[in-house]
Amino acid sequence: MTTTLPATTAPEEVERVTVPPFAVITGAQVQRVLRGRERELVELVEATYRLHGAGDSVNPPSYFLRFPDRPSSRIIALPASLGGDVQVDGLKWVSSFPENVAAGIPRASAVLILNDHDTGYPFACLEGSIISATRTAASAALAADWLSRSRPRPTRVGFVGLGLIARYIHTFLAGTGWSFDEVGLHDLSADNAAGFRGYLEQSRSAARVTVHDSAEELIRSSDLVVFATVAAEPHISEVSWFAHNPVVLHISLRDLAPEVLLASTNIVDDVDHCLKANTSPHLVEQLTGNRDFLAGTLDEVMAGRVGVPVDRPVIFSPFGLGVLDLAVGKNVYDHLASSGELHIIDDFFHELRRHG
Ligand SMILES: NC(=O)c1ccc[n+]([C@@H]2O[C@H](COP(=O)([O-])OP(=O)(O)OC[C@H]3O[C@@H](n4cnc5c(N)ncnc54)[C@H](O)[C@@H]3O)[C@@H](O)[C@H]2O)c1
Repeated sequence: MTTTLPATTAPEEVERVTVPPFAVITGAQVQRVLRGRERELVELVEATYRLHGAGDSVNPPSYFLRFPDRPSSRIIALPASLGGDVQVDGLKWVSSFPENVAAGIPRASAVLILNDHDTGYPFACLEGSIISATRTAASAALAADWLSRSRPRPTRVGFVGLGLIARYIHTFLAGTGWSFDEVGLHDLSADNAAGFRGYLEQSRSAARVTVHDSAEELIRSSDLVVFATVAAEPHISEVSWFAHNPVVLHISLRDLAPEVLLASTNIVDDVDHCLKANTSPHLVEQLTGNRDFLAGTLDEVMAGRVGVPVDRPVIFSPFGLGVLDLAVGKNVYDHLASSGELHIIDDFFHELRRHG
């Protein structure tokens, strides 16, 4: 399946490099490879954060493509390069079109391109939304674990925003050994709350499930709070709701007002990334003119360089790093390659001789 390409014109110097075959990997394949491997994937994400923390990655700022005629929509490009044993470059290209939901299709859609380390050739295009949800949920479960190590393990979890990401996060928590006495649910849409309750029933969760009419009620009654809304600006500003010092996974990044962050320990995935695009941490930086409110990164917590005090809420705000998509995407590719299940597109790269 490989095509041989002469790299130089002088016959005595001809070095032979091969153009990798190009594979297309469907969402069905991605889901089949990833399903049920929550522990392994959390370990993969942990190893990737450590590589990134050690500088063995390139993760430039994401590029946000926005449209004057469709202000609520965006497409984000996340280019990245990962070293270590993975050695892959690539790009996630992920759209968010919130109006899709009313039309009956998911808000987010994505592809992930993997590029060969040696030739730069793209060698795979993968359906990206399942990989994106998977790496987001794996990173949330990893943070829940590390950020709760110095306090009693939470037994009451609450989800604010009950879409795809909340479902994946619950699956990853359950799949990595968390069990809860109570699961609290809150969403602006009663239909989405009912849909999420249906998912919990199917997943045979033994927890008591309560749908809360207000975010306040949910936050006050949860030790682990997950925000996975599509709020564009803060809608939670009451610091007293967090007086019981919960662990907060602020996955949707824009729910919490600066005063809530200023009263908490703040952990991010990457400081420069997170202080952008009007995330809540970015709003705090704009308000205070400094980054003193940040305790550090999850990698620094894992390395023991940053502690997590028990007498304040702790908030994890992950911007979402392209290196995580690459790590999970390459893992899917390697599984399918080793089981001989790659769909190769023959002759994808066709014009391979300089002079024909
Ligand atoms: N940080 C990361 O790495 C990362 C990665 C992927 C997705 N995300 C973010 O996660 C969020 C959720 O994504 P999704 O695919 O599950 O979206 P989704 O559209 O499937 O679900 C969002 C849910 O939030 C609800 N909602 C909106 N505003 C709310 C509010 N103020 N209070 C309560 N509920 C509210 C909606 O009704 C909906 O049920 C998005 O903001 C997305 O950008 C973050």
